Amino acid sequence: MPDPVAINTMFAQVAQRYDRANRILSCGVDLWWRRRLVASARTHHPKHILDLATGSGDVAFALARGLGPGVHITGMDFCQPMLEVALAKQIIAGDPRLAAVTFAPGDGLNLPLPDASFEAVTIAFGLRNMGDRARALEEMRRVLVPGGRLHVMEFSQPAPWLRPFYYFYMRRVSPRLAGLVTGEPGAYRYLCDSIAQFPDRDGLAAEIRRAGFVDVQAVSLTGGIVALHTGQRPAD
Ligand SMILES: C[S@@+](CC[C@H](N)C(=O)[O-])C[C@H]1O[C@@H](n2cnc3c(N)ncnc32)[C@H](O)[C@@H]1O
Repeated sequence: MPDPVAINTMFAQVAQRYDRANRILSCGVDLWWRRRLVASARTHHPKHILDLATGSGDVAFALARGLGPGVHITGMDFCQPMLEVALAKQIIAGDPRLAAVTFAPGDGLNLPLPDASFEAVTIAFGLRNMGDRARALEEMRRVLVPGGRLHVMEFSQPAPWLRPFYYFYMRRVSPRLAGLVTGEPGAYRYLCDSIAQFPDRDGLAAEIRRAGFVDVQAVSLTGGIVALHTGQRPAD
């Protein structure tokens, strides 16, 4: 299980160069993955959305741009330097649609939010870093209204034919590349280890069901490198 203090410190160290590292390491595909997450949320027209582990805010901003007027997004993260990067981007963008986003500090394992306050919860590449996934999923269910929907974008286990190439890239190439971009190769060795230890698509779907969600579905993207899981808090 990831240690929350170490995770917080690691993201604080890479915050300023986090976006650039993402673009380079994923060859830009991460932008498309986040767009898929937004498209998934758009299907049920939520008005109040929690983007948990919002980091530098890219999902929150994409939701504000993609879901149209009348939507409010709370971008929450426990790492203050990541939130500061998000806030700076919001100001620099000068895009009035981004006024729909409010950033706030908060721990996914103990959300400082009332019960049943969002129609959707999104989380991109954050669940893997949570010290206690079952607890984090229960918190997400708690803050959803009955009938509200969860959208989880996360690294998964790629198709067997892709695994040798993928893990060669992740273990040998990406820490060096990331070291050049961020000066923190250790953070990206952690990325590889955390992905290798993360459940596959069916395993995560089972965890989401165990946390009390229904209608749980999973879609593999980019050869299974990433999976999008959705689930619903049961209607009362
Ligand atoms: C890989 S980044 C993802 C950021 C963003 N969602 C994205 O798609 O780029 C993971 C984020 O999860 C946050 N995080 C990890 N554990 C957390 C927790 N327990 N509560 C809140 N945020 C957490 C980290 O601070 C970091 O910003």
